[in-house]
Amino acid sequence: MRIVSGMRPTGKLHLGHYLGVLKNWVTLQENNECLFFVADWHALSTSYEDKLNLRRLSTELVRDWLAAGIDPERATIFIQSHIKEHAELYVLLNMITPLGWLERNPTYKDQLAQIKNKDIHTAGFLTYPVLQAADIILYDADAVPIGEDQKPHLEITREIVRRFHHLFGCKIFKEPKELLSATPRLPGLDGRKMSKSYNNAIFLSDTPEEVWTKLRGAKTDPQRVKRTDPGNPEVCLIYEYHKAFSDAETIKKVEEGCRTAGIGCVECKKWCMASIEKVLEPMRERREAVSEDMIAEVIAKGESKAKEAASAKMQAVNKAIFEIQCEVQS
Ligand code: TRP
Ligand code: SF4
Repeated sequence: MRIVSGMRPTGKLHLGHYLGVLKNWVTLQENNECLFFVADWHALSTSYEDKLNLRRLSTELVRDWLAAGIDPERATIFIQSHIKEHAELYVLLNMITPLGWLERNPTYKDQLAQIKNKDIHTAGFLTYPVLQAADIILYDADAVPIGEDQKPHLEITREIVRRFHHLFGCKIFKEPKELLSATPRLPGLDGRKMSKSYNNAIFLSDTPEEVWTKLRGAKTDPQRVKRTDPGNPEVCLIYEYHKAFSDAETIKKVEEGCRTAGIGCVECKKWCMASIEKVLEPMRERREAVSEDMIAEVIAKGESKAKEAASAKMQAVNKAIFEIQCEVQS
């Protein structure tokens, strides 16, 4: 299958990104043709006031990807804004996308209701899914790995494809399907959603000391005041982390040890640390080996591959639109 997916460059990646997205990407690249891109234009749709250095954030994002095991020999890695065809297709798709589809988009409505610290009443934010559709159909993606919140965007993408085919009378796009990641959300260290802005995240680039400081400080079952008080793992965040990162045997030891006060929370956290480090340690090693030059090279190589596919597709699109075979020629 051809797989296309993007991520907005909004800062360092954390364990939540790893479990929700990157782990999936790493698996997919084994047996599929993958295109992974930095959605820098999409980042602007919500962060146009934030004075982000998107160029730097974009290369740092690619660094995180390479550290996490995305292999530039297998996957094509590029920056959205380097391929102007995304913008060209976006303009054309905007012409045919009914406002109602965008206004009724549940993800859009949720975000309008939730995001209060930014003014996102912009054309760019409303038409976010149109740009996303362009990203996807430009490359004939068969499938798109996404989180639950992105499902409406895939639905809109398929609707746009059907409408284009209907209006211009030729079938030049694929209708992509979604690949939902099975992993549930990993909570942050305070129990809320893991997010850089809540200051509750373990970053892929954290040192072992940083990871331990964060884990050590995390709240556990509040009923376990003394070492001899039995606990309930179901109400403990550390147990969530064990379920995400530890093997079955360790998880069992935690369940029993916690309920019988056979283990202390510090010991439990140390096991948790070891399981997380199984993921982070290899990332640190790979990160060491990634240089500025290597990132630049990866992005340039990806750009030329993406560019080739994108410009071929835009020729077909422009032909369909501008040389349409009218039924009545005057
Ligand atoms: N909207 C996606 C997100 O916030 C990012 C994205 C942009 C994307 N373009 C895409 C994902 C195309 C998949 C395919 O996560
Ligand atoms: Fe949480 Fe582990 Fe302590 Fe139980 S023993 S409360 S699971 S940290």
